[in-house]
Amino acid sequence: MPVPYTKLVIEHFKNPHNVGEIEDADVKVTEGSPACGDMITLYLKVDPQTQRIVDVKFKSYGCASNIATASIITDLVKGKTIEEAKKITWKDAAEALGGLPPVKVHCSVLAADALHSAVDLYLEKNGLVTEKEPTTLEKVYEKLSHVTNPETGIDIVKSRLIKSVNVGNGIITIKLNLASDFQFIDNIREEIQERLQYLWDIKEINILLEG
Ligand code: FES
Repeated sequence: MPVPYTKLVIEHFKNPHNVGEIEDADVKVTEGSPACGDMITLYLKVDPQTQRIVDVKFKSYGCASNIATASIITDLVKGKTIEEAKKITWKDAAEALGGLPPVKVHCSVLAADALHSAVDLYLEKNGLVTEKEPTTLEKVYEKLSHVTNPETGIDIVKSRLIKSVNVGNGIITIKLNLASDFQFIDNIREEIQERLQYLWDIKEINILLEG
């Protein structure tokens, strides 16, 4: 049976807004959906004076609902401050589209997760995080659960690609269940560095391959 989409979902899917890349983006994040393995990459450009999002673009490797939600969520955040953008949820995006079928909710969650990850990364990167809690093992795992294995679209925690993590004295050491000749090793390494390097109390990240 075909999935019942609203007219607006179909419009945004057929002619999505804000598709593409921002070359000099302040942040770029790739997020994968644990539900389906689809992925989305989001770029933000922020005015450092006003903290307003002056440009936002996305690339989706997902389904029609994901493309439509990413299209509308990028429309919603454009011109908003980074703090306002943080409060936009998948529900806001789904509502703005006139609703999504329940089976497709995870697709809008994926777009919203990418937005929230990008906002968090921007705040960390620019030293704007107000609650400076010491980095814990839980925090590192939480961050790693947003690093996607491009081969499957599933994050590296769920994919059991992490052998161990150690945090202490400003140093994070991660042992991965991957060999150096794994096709996407550089992407995964880069993404881990990007997600962890702006934590305020971290000065060194070591990634060891033990696959
Ligand atoms: Fe994967 Fe929609 S089914 S994003």
